[in-house]
Amino acid sequence: MTEKTKEIINNQINEEFYSAYLYLAFSAKLEKWGFKGAANWMKIQAQEENDHALGFFRFLLERGEEPELRAIAKPEEASLKNMLDMFSAGLAHEKHITACIGKIYELAREEKDYALESFTKWYIDEQVEEEANAIEIIDKLKLIGDNGSAVYMLDQELKARMYVPSGPYATANTAA
Ligand SMILES: [Fe+2]
Ligand SMILES: [Fe+2]
Repeated sequence: MTEKTKEIINNQINEEFYSAYLYLAFSAKLEKWGFKGAANWMKIQAQEENDHALGFFRFLLERGEEPELRAIAKPEEASLKNMLDMFSAGLAHEKHITACIGKIYELAREEKDYALESFTKWYIDEQVEEEANAIEIIDKLKLIGDNGSAVYMLDQELKARMYVPSGPYATANTAA
């Protein structure tokens, strides 16, 4: 594996852990505001991001490389003041991650690293879903506006989300 490839994967491990941090910070805020359902949704999102990080972590190990765990930045977006802004920031972040994954895929092709190219496909498909999930909730929040009982119902809906192991190794082996 080239240094460039190792660098981009180590960076992505950090990006995915940052995503987990961001969603966990949102979860804490939402729970403080009384939105237990939305807090649950964000906490599960954080767990999935942790799985995404572990996917890249495992990939490096399987290729005989040692993952490098770097400092995770403070999620500044956690200072946002309402649920719509939070989910919108989440979507903007997912678009950034989609671009990151695209760069990994491009590098894999450039270097003819077919294993990495194949591995990255899982993340490309996952990003389509991640963006779609955020868009769906943003659309609902926009429709609802400040209708209290509708906000309550959406919160109940988000409470139903359950954690399912995510990432390219989730079905084969849940332990990283
Ligand atoms: Fe992710
Ligand atoms: Fe994500």
